[in-house]
Amino acid sequence: MNIPFNKPDIRQEEIESVVEVLKSGWLIQGKYSAQFEEEFCKFAACRHAALVSTCTAGLHLSLMAMDVRAGDEIIVPAQTHAATAHVVELMGATPVFVDVDKHTANTTADRISAAITKKTRGVMVVHMSGIACEMDDIMSVAESKRLFVIEDCAHALGTFYKGKHAGNFGVSGCFSFYPTKHITTGEGGMAITNDEKVFSAIKITRAFGIDTPPELRAKPGVYDVRKLGNNYRLTDFQAAFGLHQLRRFQTGNLAHRKRIARKYIGLLDACRDEVAFNEFMEDCSYFFFPIYIKNKDRDQIMLFLKEKGVGVTVHYATPVPLMSYYRNKYNLKEGMFPNAEYVARKQISLPMQPTLQDNEIEYIVAMLKEKIYG
Ligand SMILES: Cc1ncc(COP(=O)(O)O)c(C=O)c1O
Repeated sequence: MNIPFNKPDIRQEEIESVVEVLKSGWLIQGKYSAQFEEEFCKFAACRHAALVSTCTAGLHLSLMAMDVRAGDEIIVPAQTHAATAHVVELMGATPVFVDVDKHTANTTADRISAAITKKTRGVMVVHMSGIACEMDDIMSVAESKRLFVIEDCAHALGTFYKGKHAGNFGVSGCFSFYPTKHITTGEGGMAITNDEKVFSAIKITRAFGIDTPPELRAKPGVYDVRKLGNNYRLTDFQAAFGLHQLRRFQTGNLAHRKRIARKYIGLLDACRDEVAFNEFMEDCSYFFFPIYIKNKDRDQIMLFLKEKGVGVTVHYATPVPLMSYYRNKYNLKEGMFPNAEYVARKQISLPMQPTLQDNEIEYIVAMLKEKIYG
């Protein structure tokens, strides 16, 4: 068998809509971008959504909107993609890494609380693998210290916490449409917010800081730049593509991910002596299915699965503070983030694409068992 890790579900309707936009000649910020933002808002039940070129761009724009400066400290979980910390560095601010929970790989309010200093301005949270962070606790710490929270929702499309979609708790929530994610546009992302000022800042800074978009200019080509900006726009053909992805996610693919999770849990039930995993969570969006290898060598198992045609990966094999750039710059060492290091050593991400069939899930678990018990 050949089962790639999180292969995107791309259909004829996506292909046709891309061709239609290409033929139209209107390639940037057209009707599909507006429609994608509108439908995304409805799905996430947020006030505003801004389409951006990547999740990283959305996170960067969110920090710009909060006017983060050199000398500010921003709390970042140790287990995440480098992007969550990089955007803090790009602002000239300092990422202060905190450990995560061993079972969810999410950071927690008590760890955040312990890392707060006089210089702390904000907190980045990551809803790892689609499991929501404990947002009530985190928001209450943040609010009591007047800190902003930015939600890295790269894993969290379709993730809910107490009935509210992820991304609605902090000043913004940023989603990724990278090919392995819940939905894709190739590269792409969405920044959502319920704050008028943050929305306006994100919209302006995603397009060079220009005050008036082309369609609203009184005279062609005449505009002012009132703030620093970047070019973080997405194309309209990607938006047209993404609309189909979002609609299918809502009408079937999210539910299918949950069916896959239940199937994994059922099949892995007999392996609890060697494999740890979370029980089924209805509010989790299952970006991938994380398992933890208790006693055996994780890397050997991963390599065996790869050899057997199963696309697996690790989220993430090196905690960000232990990557050379951060380790050297901030003098960070092994042993400082024990749970993040445990996740890095023990975790395997099993595939979760919406096209995954029952026989493929059975094969994945059979191969896992063969290596562990064989
Ligand atoms: C937790 C997390 N944050 C941010 C990103 C960056 O997303 P993008 O590639 O859309 O910039 C990723 C990418 O995989 C991620 O996993």
